[in-house]
Amino acid sequence: MFQKLLLFLAIIFPIISFPHAERIFTTPETCAECHGVFYTNWSQSMHSNAAKDPYFLAKLSNEVVVVGSFVEEECAKCHTPTAKLEAKLNRIEAIILRSGFLNKSNELYEFAIDGVSCTLCHQIKKNNFSGNYLIDINYKKPERAIYGPFIPMYSIEMYRNSGYFPTRSENFLKSDLCGNCHVVYTPTIEDGKITKFFAEQTTFLEWKNSIYNPDRPCQSCHMKEESFRISTKPENIFERKAKHHHFLGANVQILKILGDEIGAKRSEAQLKSSAEIKIISVKLKDGEIEILVEIKNNAGHKFPTGFPSRRAIVHVLVEDPEGIIFESGRVMENGKVIGENYPERHYDLITSEDQVQIYESVMMGKDGEYTIDLTKAHGYIKDNRILPKGFTTTLAHPDTIPVGVEDDNFSPGKDRITYLIKKEFKKPLKIRAELLYQPISWPFIEGLENTAEVKEFIKMLENIELTTLISSDEITIN
Ligand code: HEC
Ligand code: HEC
Ligand code: HEC
Ligand code: HEC
Ligand code: HEC
Repeated sequence: MFQKLLLFLAIIFPIISFPHAERIFTTPETCAECHGVFYTNWSQSMHSNAAKDPYFLAKLSNEVVVVGSFVEEECAKCHTPTAKLEAKLNRIEAIILRSGFLNKSNELYEFAIDGVSCTLCHQIKKNNFSGNYLIDINYKKPERAIYGPFIPMYSIEMYRNSGYFPTRSENFLKSDLCGNCHVVYTPTIEDGKITKFFAEQTTFLEWKNSIYNPDRPCQSCHMKEESFRISTKPENIFERKAKHHHFLGANVQILKILGDEIGAKRSEAQLKSSAEIKIISVKLKDGEIEILVEIKNNAGHKFPTGFPSRRAIVHVLVEDPEGIIFESGRVMENGKVIGENYPERHYDLITSEDQVQIYESVMMGKDGEYTIDLTKAHGYIKDNRILPKGFTTTLAHPDTIPVGVEDDNFSPGKDRITYLIKKEFKKPLKIRAELLYQPISWPFIEGLENTAEVKEFIKMLENIELTTLISSDEITIN
């Protein structure tokens, strides 16, 4: 009798303790048991932080103040994607803040908190931009497929332990997989209604129109290859080449805030590989210095790319024995640039210290003025981010065409700027050029509404260096 009761309990217990045995997703810990390397890598990436990210939470709370809570549904598609889909299936509203997903008592908390996790990417069956990817909801475990790049031999081991069946899908070797979320169309909202969709991020479309398409997909730069055992079980699995799941990016600052020094270091190295600055030539005349500077983009898309608060600043400093003769682009601690009149226009020729080259995209509100509110954007006033190598305007997606750039040498993969300084000088003359990067431009901090999430975020920024040096060049003329 007692044995029968035990048996009964053994059967019924999993059903009681996991009321949603029909879940489409599972938490990454299930996979960590065998795929520890992938789990550790992923944990140090922004994908695992997509929901915890304090900048995201601050911005989200800002958009909620601007247009209302219904916008959370939109952001959930990419920042809390597993919770969003589980909510849809259970007819729960997709809210992230307050009593929503990120409240510890919310039943979808454990899904939401992991951001872009294993069973999200690995179940994408068909691609569609802006978080509209297809995940098959018809199959129940244990018939659910986990897609991956190769034909597995030991499928049964994984199936028995996780309830998912590893299945080959070509999609995993292609950029299109990343395009699901790395092309972002944000709804523009007026009087509570969506009036259009605005191209907030176009990274995949930028890549498509570059020399990296098709042989150098996103994976080739953002997931480094190495030999290791992809699973610790079964024991006879041998080492082979596979891709690390660091999803290397440029978000040094947020990883630091989140206390991930390793992730932050790795990001800084990736960022430093992205672009180069060089002093090409210096011509001296009486009372005149002419400097030609070149900035090269080595990334697989525009530089910078991604979220519209990213920007790169060119800092040029000219000194003679008596001191500084000219300086353009000095950045202050709060991220502002001396001489900057936001949004500073694009330059081909710089002749005074209040002219600064800043590569960035600046969103335009209905009135034609700049806005930092995603849901109020109608287009761009400025987009002079450096194009990837191989970009051709005729083949360009309309949403990737530069804005406010009239400049003959602004060309695929690089830009050149002439600095013409009309001043007396003495030799030796020291000229230094620096390329600086900011993931969060100051208007994106100062313009935030005063919510609890924003206050918390601003406090976190206090001890964080907002600007990173990417590349520099220096010459002395005797
Ligand atoms: C952002 C999407 C994404 C996320 C999140 C993700 N993966 Fe992957 N995964 C990929 C891609 C893309 C590949 C194929 C890379 C290649 O070989 O070019 C891959 C490959 C794999 C492979 C096969 C490796 C090989 O070469 O055979 C395993 C195993 C794997 N992932 C496990 C995981 C686990 C475990 C997690 C969670 C801790 C995870 N993945 C999270 C995108 C993702
Ligand atoms: C009990 C161990 C185990 C668990 C748990 C496990 N896997 Fe696997 N996984 C494996 C093995 C073994 C393979 C196949 C390796 C081979 O055949 O070379 C594999 C293969 C894969 C592949 C490659 C599939 C392909 O076709 O390219 C992916 C992706 C993957 N697993 C993801 C996951 C995810 C996501 C989870 C969590 C839901 C998970 N695994 C849980 C053992 C496991
Ligand atoms: C389900 C949506 C989704 C998919 C699919 C996806 N990403 Fe992401 N990715 C995100 C989100 C959301 C973030 C931003 C997280 C944040 O900053 O809060 C992000 C951030 C990144 C970053 C920036 C990291 C940093 O440190 O700044 C890189 C790089 C990246 N993804 C690469 C990839 C690559 C490569 C693929 C394809 C293999 C891919 N992503 C697929 C949603 C996705
Ligand atoms: C040739 C190498 C290369 C390829 C290919 C490439 N990237 Fe990048 N990516 C970089 C470098 C280097 C950076 C850092 C500099 C920057 O932010 O632009 C970067 C930055 C990013 C960022 C911004 C991170 C941040 O913090 O803002 C995202 C997102 C991203 N890449 C996604 C992608 C996606 C998606 C693809 C494919 C469609 C892709 N990348 C293809 C090299 C590459
Ligand atoms: C289609 C997918 C998608 C949707 C929908 C989406 N995002 Fe993102 N978001 C991303 C990706 C991808 C990145 C990373 C880009 C990068 O690193 O430059 C990102 C980055 C961000 C960042 C910068 C985070 C950081 O650490 O620098 C903020 C803030 C943000 N998103 C806010 C939002 C808000 C608010 C919404 C809803 C209005 C939203 N996102 C909707 C994909 C999405």
